[in-house]
Amino acid sequence: MTTLEKLFTPAQRSRLFEAIPNRYSCRSFSGAPSTADWAALSYAAQRYALPGVRLFLHTVPENIFTGIVLNYGKITGCTTIAVLAASIAQPHSRIHAGILGEAFCLEATAMGLGTCWVAGTYKRKQLELPLQADETVLSIIAIGVPEKAAPDARKRKSLDRICKGDIRQWPEELRRAAAAVQMAPSALNLQPWEMAYTDGHFTLDAPQLHQLDLGIAVCHAELAVAEPHLWHFGDGKREPLACMTAKE
Ligand SMILES: Cc1cc2nc3c(=O)[nH]c(=O)nc-3n(C[C@H](O)[C@H](O)[C@H](O)COP(=O)(O)O)c2cc1C
Repeated sequence: MTTLEKLFTPAQRSRLFEAIPNRYSCRSFSGAPSTADWAALSYAAQRYALPGVRLFLHTVPENIFTGIVLNYGKITGCTTIAVLAASIAQPHSRIHAGILGEAFCLEATAMGLGTCWVAGTYKRKQLELPLQADETVLSIIAIGVPEKAAPDARKRKSLDRICKGDIRQWPEELRRAAAAVQMAPSALNLQPWEMAYTDGHFTLDAPQLHQLDLGIAVCHAELAVAEPHLWHFGDGKREPLACMTAKE
């Protein structure tokens, strides 16, 4: 069974880590991925696997996207999506979905494509998907050729607001991880994360409702840390949702 620590090869880790500052929510597309890009994305969708989640590509009519969230506007020109289907009875499947979806977005970004997580502003009923009985669609991801250049700046909380304690005392790799988490996307840009470092444990927590966002943040943190380590996913009540410890 694939675990998070084994998900990325060293080459993938550095390629996806470098893509983090270039990823943004692209909402206007000038076309679909080329045939070669589609093949590479299909390979990535199969390669990135964790228990309880399935990621697959699908084509959609452009009018599947709706509405306006935070004045961001409707997604236009997009006919290719990735679907994140989770067997939600399986432990941590929502967190796993966040990790895989974000790894996929960063892979697409590294290929020069635009992506946008879309959990709300699309017509779910219009999607006819080959789902298994126990699967639920947690989100789709719009993918395509971006029509415009990336925005210069993104609104983010300061590290002081999402980290507990004095981050200057943290090991360098964890400071890198915190900065990578800060750049992660989240639903409605809520950035619901709280990071802490105590007694050799780096914890990453969020309210239960935001497990997808938590998985996305875990993906960014994982890409920042090359030293051997282990992740433990908790229940978010007695223990934090995610905890990383250095491996002896
Ligand atoms: C789980 C999730 C769901 C999202 N759902 C939507 C959505 O339904 N519609 C939309 O336009 N953007 C959606 N977004 C994009 C966020 O609004 C965006 O990531 C956030 O505002 C930060 O901006 P950035 O991605 O450009 O850094 C979603 C993002 C995440 C992570």
